[in-house]
Amino acid sequence: MKVRRFSSDSLATVYTAALIESLLQREPHPVLGLATGATPVNLYRQLVDFHRQGLSFSHVTTINLDEYVGLPWTHPQSYHRFMQDHLFSQIDIPPGRTFIPDGTADDLEAECVRYDAILAAHPIDLQILGIGRNGHIGFNEPDISLKTRTHVIQLTEDTMQANARFFGSGEQVPDQAITMGIQSILQAKAIVLMAFGRDKAWAVKRALSGEVSTEVPASFLQMHPNVTFVLDEEAAADL
Ligand code: F6R
Repeated sequence: MKVRRFSSDSLATVYTAALIESLLQREPHPVLGLATGATPVNLYRQLVDFHRQGLSFSHVTTINLDEYVGLPWTHPQSYHRFMQDHLFSQIDIPPGRTFIPDGTADDLEAECVRYDAILAAHPIDLQILGIGRNGHIGFNEPDISLKTRTHVIQLTEDTMQANARFFGSGEQVPDQAITMGIQSILQAKAIVLMAFGRDKAWAVKRALSGEVSTEVPASFLQMHPNVTFVLDEEAAADL
């Protein structure tokens, strides 16, 4: 795995945005795998800037990693809303070319099957990942076994606590999500994992070195031939 260390998260973000820009300029029909959360917020801002300077997304398909179960798409913390607000509403991507799991589906199992069919039809060229401080990717949480394909997952207390910062006080943090599975993530042609801040240092170190273990889902990235970790100094502090 490649590691790129930057003195700040803004430099790391510009580096990642430039990788996406060059993919969009090179490929006639690029498929981007996208993440939500705090880490990629400035990446999307940078992509919007590139768009204002002329970069078109009209030929792009995007596939998001995950979505909470039970949050309406309009809820400020739903990942549908996050993607609309931070990226989709500000670029020229055709509305039908953005895919996010539907956490409001009546039949969640059928929704997982539907999402796997979308993934099969649109092989991901570049997957952007964040990482949980417990080593999760997507919402594949540490466990004694991991699911390969799209599935419903019970979020860990640690993840719910980490995500509580985005929700209002007294508001319930969802305890379930739909997420792409580990194998689907590993099928991307290239993967860029972004991590910023001291609280990611343990997970970053453990993902890059040591045994591949279901207790650290990001360690499975060691099995992929084209992964780049894009880090600020703090996230790289334990390497
Ligand atoms: C979000 C996702 C998660 C986050 C991770 C880090 O779509 O898949 O794995 O990337 O929880 O979240 P932040 O960036 O908020 O620290």
